[in-house]
Amino acid sequence: MDLRIPEGTTAVVLGPSGTGKSVLIKHVIGLLAPDRGEVLVHDRSLSRMSSSEVLGLRRDIGVMFQDGALFSSMTVFDNVAFPLRQHTDLPDSTIREVAAEHLQAVGLWNARDRMPNELSGGMKKRAGLARALALDPGILLCDEPDSGLDPVRTALLGELLRERHEELGGTVVVVTHNIALAKLVAEHVSLLWQGRIVSSGPAEEAFNSDDPFTRQFLAGQTAGPLGMD
Ligand SMILES: Nc1ncnc2c1ncn2[C@@H]1O[C@H](COP(=O)(O)OP(=O)(O)OP(=O)(O)O)[C@@H](O)[C@H]1O
Ligand SMILES: [Mg+2]
Repeated sequence: MDLRIPEGTTAVVLGPSGTGKSVLIKHVIGLLAPDRGEVLVHDRSLSRMSSSEVLGLRRDIGVMFQDGALFSSMTVFDNVAFPLRQHTDLPDSTIREVAAEHLQAVGLWNARDRMPNELSGGMKKRAGLARALALDPGILLCDEPDSGLDPVRTALLGELLRERHEELGGTVVVVTHNIALAKLVAEHVSLLWQGRIVSSGPAEEAFNSDDPFTRQFLAGQTAGPLGMD
C-alpha cells in the first residue's frame, strides 16, 4: 500500500474485514516490518532507526488495539497507570490523578478495581483507550475503537476523540467500519481494499465521491464491486 497520513489531522482508515487495517497499525509502531518498502513516521524510516530510537518513538504513540490487549493480571486502574509508571518520573499521587481523569473520561471510574476478564467487550475497548491516552501521545492509533460499543457510547467516544484533538492537536488515526464515527471525527479519509489504498484525501471528497467502490462502502450498499469474499 501507498498511504500518507498528514501530520496533525484526524485520519480515518476504512475498509472491509481482513483487508489489512490492523496490519497497517502494527507497521506504524514497528510491531510488524514490511516485506518490501518503508514506513516513515515523522519523516523517518523505522527500518533505519535503532531499537532504542524505535522505543523512544513508541513512547509518543498511544495505541488502542482491536482486542484491547489489556494486561490480564492488572486491574483496570493499573492498566491505565502503567504507561505513566513505566515512562515518567511523576509522583504516585500525580499518576493516580492522571489515571483517574482518563478513567472518568471513558466512564470506567467505577470499574477501576476490576480485572480485564470481568469487563464487557466495550469496557475493554474503553479501558484500552484510556491507557492509550495516558501519556498524551502525539500520535494516537485506534483500531476499531467503536467495536462492542453501543451507539450512544460510540458517539461519545467520537466526541472525546474530536475534543481531545482540538485541545491537544497531534495526529489521530482511527480504523473503523463505522461511517457515523468516521463522519464525526475524520478530517482525512483513506479507503483500504485487499491490501491497497483505493482512495485517500480530505473527508468531504471521500463522502462526496462518485467512485463506485467508495460510494458502495460509505453507503453500505449491497450492489457494487464489493462482495462477501
Ligand atoms: N502477523 C501477521 N502475519 C501475516 N499475516 C497476517 C498477520 N496479521 C494479519 N495477517 C493477515 O493479513 C490480512 C489482514 O489482516 P488485518 O488484521 O489487518 O485485517 P483488518 O483489516 O484489520 O480486518 P478486521 O476489520 O476484521 O479487523 C489477513 O489476511 C490476515 O490473515
Ligand atoms: Mg483489524
